[in-house]
Amino acid sequence: MCGIVGYIGYRDAYPILINGLKRLEYRGYDSAGIAIIGKETKIYKKKGKVSELEHLIKEKDASGTIGIGHTRWATHGEPNDTNAHPHTSQNGLFTVIHNGIIENYSRLKDRLEARGYEFLSMTDTEVLANLIEHIYITANGSLDAEHAVRLALTKVIGAYGVVIIAKDEPDKLIAARKGSPLVIGIGDGEYFIASDATPIIEYTDSVIYLNNDNVAVIKKDQLTLKTIDNDQLEPMIQKLTMDIGSIEKNGYEHFMLKEIFEQPKSILDTFRGRIAADLSEIRLGGLHHVMPKIENAKRIIIIACGTSWHAGLVGEYLIETFARIPVEVEYGSEFRYRKPIIFADDVVIAISQSGETADTLAAINIAKEAGATVLGICNVVGASIPRETHAGVYTHAGPEIGVASTKAFTAQVTVLTMMAVMLGKKNNKLSEEEYLKLIKELVSVPDKVEEILKYDSLFKEISSLYKDATNFLYLGRGYLFPVALEGALKLKEISYIHAEGYPAAEMKHGPIALIDENMPVVVIATQDNSYDKIVTNIQEVKARNGKVIAIVTEGDKIIKDLADHVLEVPKSHEAIAPLLTVIPLQLLSYHIAVMRGCNVDQPRNLAKSVTVE
Ligand code: G6P
Repeated sequence: MCGIVGYIGYRDAYPILINGLKRLEYRGYDSAGIAIIGKETKIYKKKGKVSELEHLIKEKDASGTIGIGHTRWATHGEPNDTNAHPHTSQNGLFTVIHNGIIENYSRLKDRLEARGYEFLSMTDTEVLANLIEHIYITANGSLDAEHAVRLALTKVIGAYGVVIIAKDEPDKLIAARKGSPLVIGIGDGEYFIASDATPIIEYTDSVIYLNNDNVAVIKKDQLTLKTIDNDQLEPMIQKLTMDIGSIEKNGYEHFMLKEIFEQPKSILDTFRGRIAADLSEIRLGGLHHVMPKIENAKRIIIIACGTSWHAGLVGEYLIETFARIPVEVEYGSEFRYRKPIIFADDVVIAISQSGETADTLAAINIAKEAGATVLGICNVVGASIPRETHAGVYTHAGPEIGVASTKAFTAQVTVLTMMAVMLGKKNNKLSEEEYLKLIKELVSVPDKVEEILKYDSLFKEISSLYKDATNFLYLGRGYLFPVALEGALKLKEISYIHAEGYPAAEMKHGPIALIDENMPVVVIATQDNSYDKIVTNIQEVKARNGKVIAIVTEGDKIIKDLADHVLEVPKSHEAIAPLLTVIPLQLLSYHIAVMRGCNVDQPRNLAKSVTVE
């Protein structure tokens, strides 16, 4: 939610900022802006994508070696040129870019207005810029810029990642974080600042992740790190392992397509090193020190949002089946506000691709306060969730840039499968034979996904028949019910077609009323325990002239005769089927969205990383 970049050094800042914003555009793309310090600070802002800002600046002066940039996902005030960041204080002394929400902005604004401040934009960020300036001016020369920033931030309630230019101290950038991520890349005589490491990786692999309440004062050859209360901190320098190729399209038309096709590799990367070479054991090193707590948990609570929540639902089926521990799956946003009952022997698993989702993070804090053991399943290394949790497992799916999550989902389900099977073995709920069989099944997934991807042209052909539909229904049972939810979510996110996912048997309690010859119904119906039942559900749809697109196990004859179209996936254990059956659904949504002319990688109104509640 909003992307931030900054540069200070000896190179031209503009190309670094604009390329950085393009890499961060997945975080928000309704307006963008930059500020560059030259003889005076030049600011350019534009509603729309980063490319429109680039177009605006083409003929303008953007010279200078210090600058900041922002790509916005609107929270306060509609997307327009005025509300775009950076925001400058009334007397031009401070220029600010901000990711997050200042919750008490309206109270602060009233006070500033009472002191003569006038506001140009509707944003909370302009309030912060003016607050800093007001503190600075009132101090009458007794505070430097950094001090004024720190004091202002103590008055702010909410979340922020900010980078600030001070007119009187043009040789530095001031960066601060609470809640919204900021990474600082360390070069030789230069520093890079960004919301995540993707704009930084092509320049340096040495980074510092700011922690909450950290303030960094950055000059081109010096970085000072403090707490908001002015305590000096020793910066912890870490090495990035990501490579530049992983954040480029590599010949694919869209990041989403690239990421769908990467899944054989990303699933393999997720279990690589965690399954013994002779397939005799699963080891999740990140959980080692909390294993006794997990084994003895009376209950597991899974917390997530969006696609990660769907992965969590698959996790519920897996853990309850194999480890026989009761599981509840919660939306972070509901959990945090509904006075949840949490016991000290509960184990909470927070699932998040970005590791920055505000509601998931808030729920983690509530669970920690209640004394529960909190684990994270996260994709972005070094993000807030892995840092806030007691232990966890990285998914290692590599950077996911497409806003609609694909490879992160299969990686999360891969981790949950490993966890469930490992726990089942430790708790003696799974026999050695079943344990080994499941490991073998999991290891076969990358090849099976590769097989499914070969049918992409068939998925495209079927997509062309349904691209103009206005509604879709997705049905599944058991492990495949969450896949139905995920298939429906993918379609609505990127094609703007209304779609609902339902447990197949529940269709009779409502959605069946919607079925007619115009209603495509996607049924996920691989051969498992509920196969006969789902065949009946398909018959019920056909009896009402619905169009059935069925995802079936290869060689299936019964459904082939009933459905309008079948998409086959290789035979597998039913617990593994979510990892396979979701692939055709991802591709179906992708092709339909492309055929409808939608912006697949940056769907309207969405953002990849939702750092506001
Ligand atoms: C946003 C993204 C989704 C994602 C959800 C949760 O809505 O667009 O793709 O599933 O946030 O994000 P997380 O990073 O916590 O998995």
